[in-house]
Formats: sequence, structure tokens, C-alpha cells
Amino acid sequence: MKRFLDLCDLEDGRLEAVLARARELERRPISKALSGKMIGLIFMNPSLRTLASMQAGIAQLGGSSFLIQPGAGSWKLETRTGAIMDNDAAEHVREAIPVLAEYADALGVRVFAEGKDLAADLSDGVIRAMAELCPKPFVNLESAISHPCQALADWKTLDDLEIPRKGGRFVLSWAYHPKPLPYAVPASVLAMAARRGMQVVVLRPDGFALPQEVMSRAQALAARSGGSIVETSDRRAALDGAHVLYAKSWAAPAFYGRPAEEAILRAPLRGWCVSESWFESAAPGARFMHCLPVRRNVKVADEVLDGPRSAVIRQAGNRLHAQKALLVEMLGATEARS
Ligand code: CP
Repeated sequence: MKRFLDLCDLEDGRLEAVLARARELERRPISKALSGKMIGLIFMNPSLRTLASMQAGIAQLGGSSFLIQPGAGSWKLETRTGAIMDNDAAEHVREAIPVLAEYADALGVRVFAEGKDLAADLSDGVIRAMAELCPKPFVNLESAISHPCQALADWKTLDDLEIPRKGGRFVLSWAYHPKPLPYAVPASVLAMAARRGMQVVVLRPDGFALPQEVMSRAQALAARSGGSIVETSDRRAALDGAHVLYAKSWAAPAFYGRPAEEAILRAPLRGWCVSESWFESAAPGARFMHCLPVRRNVKVADEVLDGPRSAVIRQAGNRLHAQKALLVEMLGATEARS
């Protein structure tokens, strides 16, 4: 596999193999599978988990990495095709990506949604163009519409927690955040749960339905896996019998790129902060998931994050195991992959 832009780039058999390898690497973390390999990491946006888990994982597999953070010690990068580069970006990705590929065996890139043009962000054109410019294996470390490493780790977390694939009830809930956030995580998590064959409920206030393109894609995955997806703004009904509540905030599609107008819709929704009371009708022992970072007592109450339901640290830990398994799949020696 040359490119990992979306979880669907791993067909079913390879996905199961990567999940099995992730479990094995969790038991025995150190190997030489990436000995002599150099991975270039390009972070156009901030990170805690993705950056640290990639660097730690590469080192544990005997490889090395270099980090480029454009605008923070290296040139700001232009991504727009045909741009007149008279602003503060001194270099274009058309040069930067092939140059960095000269020094590396693979590149990993994080480049978030611009948050201005919904159709452009839904097309994921920026990271797809960067992948096209890279002659080496390429990993999406979160783009405008996809965070496949998060989805892969979350799939493993659900397996670890013994949440049923078929029949497991998974609620993806909008939660309050002061700003409109991108769709990469909710779209990826929704697609993951649908592909896993789960009974998925998208719980969101009126005006915050996910874009139709995101829903349609997930519906197709659910149809293939035998899962299901419904949407509601009724919290109690959504959580009825739920095994998992996965919280995330996202932008209102109708006001995409117009945050001042969206703020009027968002302002009355501060009550969408996940608390223990949300779980009253859930299955006994229902779990709470979030990709992190999370704003405590804005998006989720301390009592949930610090309580026994919370799987957020396990999720973050699984980023390490899952990404290592992915890198071995993409780059490891043949005997390490088999
Ligand atoms: N969940 C996640 O990707 O975390 P970071 O943004 O800290 O990498």
C-alpha cells in the first residue's frame, strides 16, 4: 500500500492484519521492522498525540524521523495551485514534498481543513495533491475530511473494550465547542463504526447535521457491513441501550466559513456538554470516547473524563500501536509483514 489517505485504503483483509499486528506490537513494542528507514513528518497544524506517537513508534521499530513544522523553523508552505506567491509562504509544496521525499522512505502529513469552502474541504484536495507529489509511501496524519490513524486506533479500542461489531450500539454525538471545528474526526469515526457493522446513531442539535456527502458515504459502508445509521436530536432516545458515546464537535454546514453567523446558532447550545446524566438510558457500563484534545467542562464534564467510563487514554495509547502496525504494513521488511 503506497498511500494511506483514508481507512478505506486498507481493504478488509489488510485491516484485520494491521489490527492483529497492532495487538502484537502492544504486547512486544520493540522491533527492528523499520531499521534503516527514515520517515519525514510534516505538520502544517498543531498536534500532541499524532506527533508524539509517530516519533515514539518509529523509534520503537528501529527507524528514524525528521519533523518539519512550516512557519516554525522552516519555510511557510503554499498549497494552492497557481498561487501568486507574494505573501509570507516562501516555498510551494510542489517543490517541498518531492524534496523531502528525497530524504525519506515515507512521508506523513497533517494539513487541516481551511474552513472556508465546504466543497473544497470535502474533496480533500490539498492532501490528495500532496500525496500525488510524493513518490514514496504517504500517510495522512489528519486532513480536511479524514483522520484515518484516529479511526484505525479507535477500531482497535472498540475491539479491546469488547464492544460488539454486529449489534454494538454506537452514538456519535455533537458536543459544544466555542468555535466551528472540521469534519475530519466525525466523518472518519462515523465511517469506521459503520464499516465495523455497528448500529450507529448520530446525535446532534438542529442545524448541525453532518454534510450529506459524509452521511452518504457512511450509509454505503453500513449497507455493506450489515450495520445501520440513524440521526436524531433526541438525546435520551439516542443513548437508549448505547454501548459507546463518542463525543465530538463540528461546524454547521449551512454556515461553513461564516463563523460569526454560525455563532448565533451555536451560542444557545452550551448545554451540549457531556455529563453522567447523559448515560441514564445507556447500557450498563457504557463507555465514553473522545479523540482528544478536549475542553473540560465545556465539551465534557470532569466526572465523565475522570470516571470509569472514559476510554480516552486507551484511545490515545492505541494511536501508537495502530500507527506502528500501519508503518510495518507500508514499509516493513517482508518477513515483518507476513
Ligand atoms: N487526536 C489527535 O489527533 O490528537 P492531536 O491533534 O494531539 O494529534
